[in-house]
Amino acid sequence: MTPRFLAACRREPVDRPPVWLMRQAGRYLPEYREVRARAGGFLEMVKTPEHAVEVTLQPVRRLGVDAAILFADILLVLEPMGLDLQFEEGRGPRILNPVRGRDDAGRLRVPRDAGIDLAYVMETVRGARAGLPAEVPLIGFAGAPFTVATYAAEDGAETEELLLEKLARVTTSYLLAQAQAGAQALMLFDSWASRALDVAFRHARTVLATVRELVGAEVPLIYFAKGAGARLDDLATIGADVIGIDATVDLREARARIGDRVAIQGNLDNEVLRSADPAGVRDATMRLLEAAGPRPGYIANLGHGVLPETPVLNVAAFVDTIRTWKWPASPRALRPAPKT
Ligand code: CP3
Repeated sequence: MTPRFLAACRREPVDRPPVWLMRQAGRYLPEYREVRARAGGFLEMVKTPEHAVEVTLQPVRRLGVDAAILFADILLVLEPMGLDLQFEEGRGPRILNPVRGRDDAGRLRVPRDAGIDLAYVMETVRGARAGLPAEVPLIGFAGAPFTVATYAAEDGAETEELLLEKLARVTTSYLLAQAQAGAQALMLFDSWASRALDVAFRHARTVLATVRELVGAEVPLIYFAKGAGARLDDLATIGADVIGIDATVDLREARARIGDRVAIQGNLDNEVLRSADPAGVRDATMRLLEAAGPRPGYIANLGHGVLPETPVLNVAAFVDTIRTWKWPASPRALRPAPKT
């Protein structure tokens, strides 16, 4: 049996939509905070495969989601390129020697095989795959070139073509290595695409096309560009099998507009998940599933990652509502009986 997450990526019929959450491994889970405290910090946790495997599996155990996502970060590729990456407590990521122009971009290293430089990630992929049930696929991921460039660069250098080209090459090699290590789907995160949509799309398209050539048609490719809802036609032809949409997009309209070109993943508002109560989450999730409709090619998820303050009970209510969802036997069953 094809796991329902992979079936939905391929737009094959499923008994119910699969569900997983962006940032499903994270600070909202007490068992994550426990491992993080033991490891001493985020980078330490990521670079110790034993810890990274453990937190990859946690949301599968706790919630019963239909896919696991590798525990890593989109910025890790910057280290082998020669940039000094830090995650400061409560402040997020910082590059100590950012790219400030073409000369700096010229000095960046392009590892020939990112799987060698980022061997610890590949070990996590293998460990996580070995620890997951057969029906729960493992998603590998990377940041799209433009989004990673927004962190790597300063002084407007994030649109420096040489930087973006180098990032595209490293990202391609990194995704290929993940697939070879056992990742069964690959996701490209373009969280800052809206700052320069055409630049972001152009480089994402290059990565997706090259990765597709290297991994073949069997491994679904997912592209998530935040703030790109006005460009659904570009997304449908970007070269991904699945596109992620953020919470500003009307799911019903997006499904109608995209048709059978690609599958759609999303888009419950992560702010609703954080601030509603479980009953409110259930209502919002039912509306989401109704908007998605019964046509194949839908994967339930959020519009952006789970926020740290989100109650675990709300996340469980979201997942359970989808896991127990049944399509009405016939759409007519929803309508009042005709008058006689
Ligand atoms: O569960 C998962 O989704 C898998 C792991 C994952 C992480 N980051 C772990 C992480 C994934 C897929 C990412 C992607 C990522 N990283 C993105 C794209 C998606 C998005 O959210 O827009 C971006 C922009 C980053 C860069 C990044 N990493 C930022 C801005 C931060 C700080 C903000 C924050 O939430 O703390 C991180 C740190 C980070 N990456 C954490 C996690 C779980 C939090 C680290 C901690 O425990 O303190």
